[in-house]
Amino acid sequence: MTDTTRSLKLLYVVGARPNFMKVAPIINEVKRRGDAIELPSGDSIAAGAKGAAGVASVPVTQILVHTGQHYDQKMSGVFFRDLGLPEPDYNLGVGSGSHTQQTAGVMTALEPVLTTEQPDLVLVAGDVNSTVAAALTAAKMNIPVAHIEAGLRSRDRAMPEEINRIVTDQLSDLLFTPSRDGDENLVAEGVAPEKIVFVGNTMIDSLEAHRADFKAASPLARLGLGPKGYVLVTLHRPSNVDDSASLKILMSALAQLADDITVVFPVHLRTQQSLERLLAEGGIERPPSLRLCEPLGYLEFLSLMNDARAVLTDSGGIQEETTVLGVPCCTLRTSTERPVTITEGTNRLVDPMDGQAILTAARAALRERSDGTLRPEYWDGQASERIIDAIADWFARS
Ligand code: UD1
Repeated sequence: MTDTTRSLKLLYVVGARPNFMKVAPIINEVKRRGDAIELPSGDSIAAGAKGAAGVASVPVTQILVHTGQHYDQKMSGVFFRDLGLPEPDYNLGVGSGSHTQQTAGVMTALEPVLTTEQPDLVLVAGDVNSTVAAALTAAKMNIPVAHIEAGLRSRDRAMPEEINRIVTDQLSDLLFTPSRDGDENLVAEGVAPEKIVFVGNTMIDSLEAHRADFKAASPLARLGLGPKGYVLVTLHRPSNVDDSASLKILMSALAQLADDITVVFPVHLRTQQSLERLLAEGGIERPPSLRLCEPLGYLEFLSLMNDARAVLTDSGGIQEETTVLGVPCCTLRTSTERPVTITEGTNRLVDPMDGQAILTAARAALRERSDGTLRPEYWDGQASERIIDAIADWFARS
């Protein structure tokens, strides 16, 4: 029976490319439950709407806010389409800028939205500037915050994302961790254990929900590629691409690798700017052997990753997706906040400033074969169900 005296309003804040696939399956899970949650049976009497089975059902309203941190069709629009996300209820139009400008811009624009909407819970995902800005705005307004993908730590505070993770976790009332190391990191930082829920990985929920779709969306024919006939590369970390000397080392290693096997490199917009600057400065020649292309949509990219012989990346999420797809991954970084992808997956770290080490690691990855059955605990496509159950539990207690 639906309790009309109570309702739950969830407000999601997304901003950048890796947020969209982490939040989409949670929104869909609420829809799958008929835009309602069932409170744990102990709460049904308090809710005053005891159904036949003694369970109270509470209607849920979902509000989606896009900060506009990513605004290009290639970085945002195509992901909404591929993931079947609804049009955002609000777009804050914050756009590009320095970290301070972006963070402050989101806070200033989000405050009136939260004042109007008065949500019961603000949900943020991952570690981008929009994540920390939304968590800080909500916390200052005494609105509870839930962090999806809590507890990950690279222990490298030179990474802007590490600051965003630490601050967001300290401000959150509900912390949904993707792996057990997340729980340990949070407890070590003094987060109360009762706020932490190990739920698994919602990015993998999205991957599993779209397996058939991404296979059907294969761009191999369009790009003239064959399955397992190429290496896929992505690079966008400021530490790798903003500095010409670092980017030069990476581009030279990739050009050498392309003598062995086709190298496909969809270029992030941040990287494109650095690459063009480096080419204009005469720092490198346009590498003829590399297949550079524009950023791809969610389904096309998953498909290209699934069929790659190996992946070289500095992304966070790609370390996770390659693990579940069973594709060998070399992460061109000196640290990772996702250690389970190394201990229980296909990932390894490679010093991005050592061109020879990159070549050696990539060539070793090319010789590997995985049966694609690697799967860290709870990376089973059901993390969003656990999140909604945990929110129902929290709502019943609050
Ligand atoms: C951001 C996140 C990073 C995440 C990445 C995924 C932070 C601190 N960084 O990095 O954690 O891995 O997104 O892509 O939040 N640009 C466009 N169009 C767009 C978006 C960006 O042209 O739609 C260009 C702009 O020149 C911009 C630059 O890319 O200045 C960087 O964008 P920004 O959002 O600042 O950071 P990302 O490098 O994308």
